[in-house]
Amino acid sequence: MHCLEGGSDHGLILQEGITSLQVRGLNGNVHIKEKMVRIADIDIAEFPLLLAPMEDVSDPPFRALCKKYGADLMYTEFISSEGLIRDAAKSRAKLDIFEYERPVGIQIFGSEIESMRKATAITEQAQPDIIDINYGCPVKKVACKGAGAGILQDIPKMVAMTKEIVNSTSLPVTVKTRLGWDDQSKFIVEVAERLQDVGIKAISIHGRTRAQMYKGEADWSLISQVKNNPRIHIPVFGNGDINSPQKAVQYKERYGVDGIMIGRASIGAPWVFREIKHFMATGELLDPPDMAERVAVAREHFDKGVEWKGERLGIVEMRRHYANYFKGLRDFKSHRLDLVTLDEVSAVRDKLDALATMPFEKAI
Ligand SMILES: Cc1cc2nc3c(=O)[nH]c(=O)nc-3n(C[C@H](O)[C@H](O)[C@H](O)COP(=O)(O)O)c2cc1C
Repeated sequence: MHCLEGGSDHGLILQEGITSLQVRGLNGNVHIKEKMVRIADIDIAEFPLLLAPMEDVSDPPFRALCKKYGADLMYTEFISSEGLIRDAAKSRAKLDIFEYERPVGIQIFGSEIESMRKATAITEQAQPDIIDINYGCPVKKVACKGAGAGILQDIPKMVAMTKEIVNSTSLPVTVKTRLGWDDQSKFIVEVAERLQDVGIKAISIHGRTRAQMYKGEADWSLISQVKNNPRIHIPVFGNGDINSPQKAVQYKERYGVDGIMIGRASIGAPWVFREIKHFMATGELLDPPDMAERVAVAREHFDKGVEWKGERLGIVEMRRHYANYFKGLRDFKSHRLDLVTLDEVSAVRDKLDALATMPFEKAI
């Protein structure tokens, strides 16, 4: 949000989902600054870049880095409603959010309306800015039990569940979903309307069906149809396959979405938000981060992981990230092997520090 120094500002609601900023400058004149995408009464950004919810990835240490690099709205990993109700430690831990992350959404999933209602109440106590419902997870153990994308086979239940959740909380509720269950049931345009009608405040759409899992290319044309439906007035965020600043700009312009949600491209590269924002603002590509920056980010990720998860888990869970942080570097294999076998905090730190000064070439 840009405000004039010394000025005061407040939001002027143009329509639900979009505000402009009324700014009084030092000379006393009032300007309309820019349109802000808004979820309920939360101004997010002019064109928000969202960090996608990702299990085993978008935990607090990773989110801290994405925030630093400019993510405008972040979601937690998905949390099982049943786990929350049972008070399972793993589910509870995922409720951890921090002030500097705001605005932040907590994502929940489940197949039973009553469990989802109870999980909403538990989630509300963690005081997120937003509660997000996962209607997109394609994995068998979730979708085939009627949760995640599984509910796309029962739209009336999806609408009823959403309504129950919306009515049970004072927090804004958003939904993340897919185009449909399979090629024969891509009902997202109708689904988005019905979910809006029961009160959701924004929708993120991954341009694939459940049947596609992660295969093929994400199809954003239906996402665009949702956005261009004159009945839709909530923000519509596009998701799927955005992996470069150029593609982000191309898709923004081609499909007219209100913002873009980024998942895999941020793994091992939380600076992707900075790269996209810079390109959007200037039309210029930033140089990729050098080795010192990559190491600094990996080191911060590691340190925050150890701090939040404890030494043992911090060390082990960080191992899956090294290949991503140091992707495409020639002769890196032996160093990666060190990183994934060292099991003392100080040894990992020393190794990372040593890497920062080593000359690596890019493997072509
Ligand atoms: C490792 C991983 C974990 C994921 N976990 C979740 C999740 O917990 N909740 C969710 O809604 N989507 C989840 N997704 C899907 C992503 O949020 C996103 O929709 C998908 O990766 C497509 O976006 P992308 O092409 O930018 O990665 C996950 C994806 C990946 C790769």
